[in-house]
Amino acid sequence: MTASRVLVHVLGARPNFVKAAPVIRALAGRGVEQVVVHTGQHYDRAMSEVFFDELGLPEPDVNLGVGSGSHAAQTAALLTGLEDEFIRRSPALVIVYGDVNSTISAALVAAKLHIPVAHVEAGLRSFDMTMPEEVNRRLTDQLSDLCLVTSPEAVGHLAREGVDVDRVHLVGNPMIDTLLANLDKFDTERVRAEHRLPERYVLATMHRPANVDDPDTAAALVGHLHGVADLADVVIPVHPRGRATLLAAGLDDHPRVHVLEPLGYIDFIAAVRGAAAVVTDSGGLQEETTILGVPCLTVRPNTERPITITHGTNRLVTFEELVPAARKALAVDAGGTGGSSPMNDSTPPLWDGQAGPRIADVIMESLVG
Ligand code: UD1
Repeated sequence: MTASRVLVHVLGARPNFVKAAPVIRALAGRGVEQVVVHTGQHYDRAMSEVFFDELGLPEPDVNLGVGSGSHAAQTAALLTGLEDEFIRRSPALVIVYGDVNSTISAALVAAKLHIPVAHVEAGLRSFDMTMPEEVNRRLTDQLSDLCLVTSPEAVGHLAREGVDVDRVHLVGNPMIDTLLANLDKFDTERVRAEHRLPERYVLATMHRPANVDDPDTAAALVGHLHGVADLADVVIPVHPRGRATLLAAGLDDHPRVHVLEPLGYIDFIAAVRGAAAVVTDSGGLQEETTILGVPCLTVRPNTERPITITHGTNRLVTFEELVPAARKALAVDAGGTGGSSPMNDSTPPLWDGQAGPRIADVIMESLVG
């Protein structure tokens, strides 16, 4: 039997698309066939299709349409759908991204079928096992033959968990490849006009289960976001998770809170670039604000991305700390809106726009070996 040369990329949720685009681009033309399996974990046009269009991702070869559900129901649908796909295509390697349910499901199915796995964004740890993403990350790394690492401290995490050093490759951050490749498209003035954004604003995003699932917690969070809105306009594109609880808690009952639908990648980063500060519980946004130089207040007790604190603009805040921290960030920014220039001396190592080609090199080498 001739060995398969097909590489299967498994993508499911919004942040996966941003990470995969530069990897797929770098692998194109290197003599391998690539297949994109979209699991359908995210399915709204604004959560999925827009990203494929804007990032130049190839049309998925298949969409498994798993949709939403409890963790067990969604993971079960992912496992059976992916198993059929992998058996049919018999890939040389399955490439998975980040820490979503599609990531761990693909790694688990591939490992059981003895198909090698490459994990892009391996080794990040929040050390908070109440986060579904932390469970997904830890298990995915144990199952991966190639751990492709974005940040130096992740190498140490993997070593401590007994991952063989030969499997670990520090390659940089493909999410930043996408950011840097699209820099001249992030036109804040256009986005400000199109979405009727105020001149000076704080951009907020909230979607972590710990912040938005419980109505009482969501209501407390809304109270603090209103406190921020007392200081400056708050623009908040609302992720479908949390929309109901945040709106029920009166999110838009403040004249300076502007609730938007989820934005596409280009408009979203343009809005971030023009913000006086960002308030978020997202993972990727901590990295993007670090490169854009926009102050970022992360409403979480921990982060799997500490390099965005040591080398970037990120700061962790409790609910109670949010308003005072926003006041401080806005005072520092009082000279104008928007971040400083992208990239500077303290930019994390290898967040240079070349992670995609490095990942492609490691993958091609693994296919030969
Ligand atoms: C998932 C990831 C999270 C990531 C986030 C990015 C897991 C465990 N979590 O969280 O790590 O930060 O994606 O967005 O994989 N929904 C829609 N339309 C969609 C997708 C979801 O309306 O296209 C709604 C559904 O009500 C669904 C809920 O959002 O139940 C949550 O979706 P799900 O994919 O389970 O998790 P996310 O919160 O999006």
